[in-house]
Amino acid sequence: MAAKITILDLQDMKERGEKITMLTAYDYPTARILDGCGIEVLLIGDSVGNAMMGMDNTLPVTVDEMIYHTRAVVRGRKRALVVADMPFMSYQVSVEQAKREAGRMIKEGGAEAVKLEGGEVMEDVIKAICDIDIPVMGHIGLTPQSVHRMGGYKVQGREERQRKKLLADAKAVERAGAFCVVLEAIPAALAAEITGTLRIPTIGIGAGAQCDGQVLVIHDLLGIAGAFRPKFVKQYANLEAAITKAVTAYLSEVKKKRFPTAKHSFQ
Ligand code: KIV
Repeated sequence: MAAKITILDLQDMKERGEKITMLTAYDYPTARILDGCGIEVLLIGDSVGNAMMGMDNTLPVTVDEMIYHTRAVVRGRKRALVVADMPFMSYQVSVEQAKREAGRMIKEGGAEAVKLEGGEVMEDVIKAICDIDIPVMGHIGLTPQSVHRMGGYKVQGREERQRKKLLADAKAVERAGAFCVVLEAIPAALAAEITGTLRIPTIGIGAGAQCDGQVLVIHDLLGIAGAFRPKFVKQYANLEAAITKAVTAYLSEVKKKRFPTAKHSFQ
């Protein structure tokens, strides 16, 4: 097995120009498969709310739910870095609350780092968590926990004022001590500018090819996320069709008394 990935490896990869791969995972079997493929970072995203729980947005996800999914992912992973999302209202109230809940992700969940949304406004929170030796991944641009402020899931940073704000956010996240930052749904040119400005790696989702790495939600990549597909998603498989075919065959064979046969029975 190749050596365990740490936050230092991601920094080295940026310096070498080697792209970083990150995917979401929420359960043991998926984590085991993605880890075996060599994905460097497994993110237990709060997208678990949409992808696994069928919610309209990520806002209802709780720390306990994140810990439950993180524990499953950690068991399936041998090599990848495991990063757990801090859900909405687990770090916005106070620095003390943020440190306590980040600590639970590490201590109870087994994550090696946490991710949280927000730039300048979260600088103190990111710094406080880093100061207690919990590595933090930032997340700026389209931040799904701010869906109501943004008025929906919209590309961010197209206007000059927003562009400057996102550059300032990126610098604040780095200054606070984050080891990496996710750039979500921002123009490719702005993502390239941020990537060129920061020393820490950027990981893009809908942020073009110049980011230091890429992330997708695993359900989108595998084609089990339903009909809605954002522009930035590339679907690499159609598991919905594969599952439907398998389950339909099972259903038909049971109904027609063709399964189980002697081969699947005990004598
Ligand atoms: O929750 C999530 O899955 C994320 C990624 C899309 C970056 O934050």
